[in-house]
Amino acid sequence: MPLALVTGGSAGLGRALAHGLADAGWTVIADGRDADRLAAAADRPGIVAIPGDVSDTDHRAALVAAVRERGPLDLLVHNASTLGPLRGDTRLPRLADVTVDDLQHVWRHNLGAPLVLTTQLLPDLRAAGGILLAISSDAAVEHYEGWGLYGASKAGLDHIALTFAAENPEITSYAVDPGDMRTQMHADAFPGEDISDRPLPESVVPHLLALLAERPASGRYRAREFSLRADIVRALQGVV
Ligand SMILES: NC(=O)c1ccc[n+]([C@@H]2O[C@H](COP(=O)([O-])OP(=O)(O)OC[C@H]3O[C@@H](n4cnc5c(N)ncnc54)[C@H](OP(=O)(O)O)[C@@H]3O)[C@@H](O)[C@H]2O)c1
Repeated sequence: MPLALVTGGSAGLGRALAHGLADAGWTVIADGRDADRLAAAADRPGIVAIPGDVSDTDHRAALVAAVRERGPLDLLVHNASTLGPLRGDTRLPRLADVTVDDLQHVWRHNLGAPLVLTTQLLPDLRAAGGILLAISSDAAVEHYEGWGLYGASKAGLDHIALTFAAENPEITSYAVDPGDMRTQMHADAFPGEDISDRPLPESVVPHLLALLAERPASGRYRAREFSLRADIVRALQGVV
């Protein structure tokens, strides 16, 4: 049974992906800071809930221990992320209003934690010939007012993920833009706006599963570039 670790698996895209992988027969280790919400998300066989904050050293040690109990790691997904400072009901701050504390907070969560966790789990990923999947954003490559700090952290995350692959040919690494999704993070980024036209995160999961099945070369992709071929879908459904 393949093994995955999905950070931020208690809500949004992380929960949807953890469910999609578990339903496809994977064992999925998932985390999240709110232990009750994580326990509710781990409501099906195959999901192992390890509550905690990815920026916390002891929590990362617990994640590594949970992986080592179960064998080599086929998939490591850096999904947990912060937008950074949201001041009152205003939108994301322009770069000129970003403080060093803001920078350190975003860097610690969106770059530092994935870098250190990947380093710790490299032997486990290499042993499986595994996949490193960094959930990126269009903000990593586009330039929007207010999104500079978050976007820079996503660009950095992409760079880290793809450099790990360059340095470790045993693994494959992807930085994937999932597109806009109707989640709490998206609502937080657009306070007071109706985001009901954005697709649910569950709609992105088939594309991510298609990416994993297709396994293209390491690189940066958009999730919607990948779709499971009809013959593979039929085979997965036991039709053929
Ligand atoms: N939503 C969009 O439109 C969009 C667009 C492009 C890219 N993305 C990216 O997609 C990914 C998922 O976003 P989302 O919209 O699904 O977010 P979300 O709905 O807010 O869910 C975030 C998940 O991560 C967990 N989390 C947050 N900080 C954490 C931490 N420090 N340690 C452990 N877990 C943490 C949350 O649980 P707790 O709060 O309980 O910790 C929750 O389970 C992110 O990387 C985001 O940048 C989203």
